[in-house]
Amino acid sequence: MGIDRAAIEMVLSFQFWRMAILWPLALLYCYARLNLAALFRRRTSPREHFRCRLVPDSAGGNFRRPICIITGATSGLGLATARALVGEGYHVVLAGRCAESLYRTIQEIKQEYEEAHLTTFQVDLSSLQSVVKFEASFKQWLLDSDLHPSVQLLINNAGILATSSRITADGYDQMIQTNFISAVVLTSLLLPLIKNSSLPSRIVNVTSFTHLCASNMKIDCKKFSRNTISEKYPFASIYEYSKLCLLLFSYELHRRLRAENLSSKISIIPVDPGVVHTNILREVPSCLSQLAFRVLSFLHLLQSPEAGASSIIDAALAPSNVSGEYFFGGRGRRMGSSSLSYDAKAASQLWLNTSIFEEQV
Ligand SMILES: NC(=O)c1ccc[n+]([C@@H]2O[C@H](COP(=O)([O-])OP(=O)(O)OC[C@H]3O[C@@H](n4cnc5c(N)ncnc54)[C@H](OP(=O)(O)O)[C@@H]3O)[C@@H](O)[C@H]2O)c1
Ligand SMILES: *[C@@H]1O[C@H](CO)[C@@H](O)[C@H](O)[C@H]1NC(C)=O
Ligand SMILES: *[C@@H]1O[C@H](CO)[C@@H](O)[C@H](O)[C@H]1NC(C)=O
Ligand SMILES: *[C@@H]1O[C@H](CO)[C@@H](O)[C@H](O)[C@H]1NC(C)=O
Ligand SMILES: *[C@@H]1O[C@H](CO)[C@@H](O)[C@H](O)[C@H]1NC(C)=O
Ligand SMILES: *[C@@H]1O[C@H](CO)[C@@H](O)[C@H](O)[C@H]1NC(C)=O
Repeated sequence: MGIDRAAIEMVLSFQFWRMAILWPLALLYCYARLNLAALFRRRTSPREHFRCRLVPDSAGGNFRRPICIITGATSGLGLATARALVGEGYHVVLAGRCAESLYRTIQEIKQEYEEAHLTTFQVDLSSLQSVVKFEASFKQWLLDSDLHPSVQLLINNAGILATSSRITADGYDQMIQTNFISAVVLTSLLLPLIKNSSLPSRIVNVTSFTHLCASNMKIDCKKFSRNTISEKYPFASIYEYSKLCLLLFSYELHRRLRAENLSSKISIIPVDPGVVHTNILREVPSCLSQLAFRVLSFLHLLQSPEAGASSIIDAALAPSNVSGEYFFGGRGRRMGSSSLSYDAKAASQLWLNTSIFEEQV
């Protein structure tokens, strides 16, 4: 283990303390609210299962499994979610950036579910070009497999916590592009297929309680392009911010679909898994991340990926009338997200501002 220089530097940074103090407080606040709500209200019903029905394929006579696309499915929450949805009868499309991890993931899931229907695509979510290529090859795959051109479930799960500033080939901050911009672009590219589903379809975004800490920084997407590479990369703030953007966007899409009378057909559900033992802290020096996990585990706040993924599954399988609600805490429980995230004006501005990503693809 050993305390190295990187760890000392990190402990001396403001961002580290922001993460070490504000994030646990935000989490405790969420659980406190959830438990208070339970005291005053009748117990919310446990997971209301959205039955996984089979979709007729293009040949008409046969039936096929609904299709679910999961990004970042090779590790942590994405992997646990993929496994659970295979169990629910979905044909799961795993989108990941590394061919080897995708292969390993398939092997792992097939050990448990021999009959699993799995397909993999290699996509790097920090590249717009790669996302566009993914959509094209996915469509081609549907065509080649004689499957109906539709998607029933999209789970934007991939995300990183970058601790140093890196600019992508598209000129954006890598963390913003992976956590937010790629979800915007992928969602808009896939929306025609999601709308084309004969069954109610759904988009689930994996956000985080850390969005509660995000301040109302002016959201200028261009600001993240060619940012001055400062040595003090405000990584904790940017992570919180990317999750807030995802929420603003989710609610905006929900409002837009509702205006088109499509909200019962396509539901939009942001979900927060809480704190989960995954590889998310991979860029944090290991002595610090291990310490963090130990403390969280001591406080009974740390969940396994399977337990954390249960919120995602709740969101994925909930009845279609819960569109636009924020899932947190597992067992089908829901609560409000930060008031900033419901700011419709900011959301519609952000919506307009993101058109620059789409112009770029
Ligand atoms: N863990 C928590 O406590 C927690 C709490 C709240 C929210 N979340 C959110 O949950 C989501 C899943 O995170 P996790 O905790 O499961 O972390 P994780 O174990 O690090 O998994 C992240 C996944 O995203 C993939 N990914 C990262 N960058 C990518 C890129 N450029 N292109 C394609 N795939 C990429 C990773 O692929 P590789 O395996 O190839 O690296 C990995 O499969 C994230 O959005 C995270 O913000 C996590
Ligand atoms: C939607 O499905 C129909 C077949 O049911 C197909 O002809 C059409 O091209 C599909 N639309 C899109 C956008 O894929
Ligand atoms: C997911 O996020 C994308 C990008 O921010 C957005 O277009 C979509 O509306 C969101 N959907 C949900 C379910 O949160
Ligand atoms: C949108 O972009 C403009 C300028 O590019 C910026 O002034 C504004 O704050 C941004 N708003 C949001 C909500 O992103
Ligand atoms: C949505 O439905 C309402 C009432 O059912 C109707 O008045 C309205 O015109 C519809 N809007 C669209 C965009 O179809
Ligand atoms: C959603 O529909 C179910 C029945 O399908 C009903 O029991 C539940 O109360 C509804 N929930 C909301 C929020 O309307």
